[in-house]
Amino acid sequence: MTHEHDHEQSTEERYGQATWDARYSESDRIWSGKPNQRLVEQIGGLAPGTAIDIGAGEGADSVWLASNGWKVTALDVSPVALAKTRAHAAEAGVEVTTVQHDLISTSALPGTFDLVSAHFWHPPLDRFADFRDVLGAAVNPGGTLLVVAHHPADHGPHRPDPHGHAAFLFTPEKVTALFDDSWQVVTCEAQERPTNRPDGPPVLTDTVVRLRRNT
Ligand SMILES: C[S@@+](CC[C@H](N)C(=O)[O-])C[C@H]1O[C@@H](n2cnc3c(N)ncnc32)[C@H](O)[C@@H]1O
Repeated sequence: MTHEHDHEQSTEERYGQATWDARYSESDRIWSGKPNQRLVEQIGGLAPGTAIDIGAGEGADSVWLASNGWKVTALDVSPVALAKTRAHAAEAGVEVTTVQHDLISTSALPGTFDLVSAHFWHPPLDRFADFRDVLGAAVNPGGTLLVVAHHPADHGPHRPDPHGHAAFLFTPEKVTALFDDSWQVVTCEAQERPTNRPDGPPVLTDTVVRLRRNT
């Protein structure tokens, strides 16, 4: 007998445009519309410059950054998501440039930036070093790389897999281990966050990594 969960998703199914376009077409808004808490906490105090929002989705983070003076590029594989980002930016009266880009098939980001911000981007396991070789490579000297993701503590024998992709969760230390001393580790923490998801655990743990590239 075949169960849905027995089916291992291929990279194309997990990271392909068709998957994400379909997901973003299902409803008006699949995320909260609010900027991610860690973005606000980590970046709120920085002087604005250029920024790229990796896997921007519906653009709440991009809009928050633009509203705080950043010149923002929102990158996603899904044109459906990017149309929502543009609508969200127009509603907020800010400018956000959108770029359709497949992080799996294309190696370099479109430019370099003072901030490269990736929230809940869980790459294929064999592409983990992209955090350094692709995202880190796009950070200007003196700039910031912010990686926020679901921590493996969210999944264990005592808890169901709340994100549906337990194998792809990672610790902050796994990210910082990629970087040499041309980077300063500003934050490398597992941070808990209460949730009000009716079907999930009351608390989730975020992997939070903030690195500053030396000048
Ligand atoms: C879990 S969502 C996170 C959305 C947003 N950053 C947030 O925090 O709400 C992951 C995002 O990555 C995008 N994505 C998935 N595969 C991708 C790929 N191959 N290239 C670029 N973006 C991709 C999806 O379209 C989706 O918007």
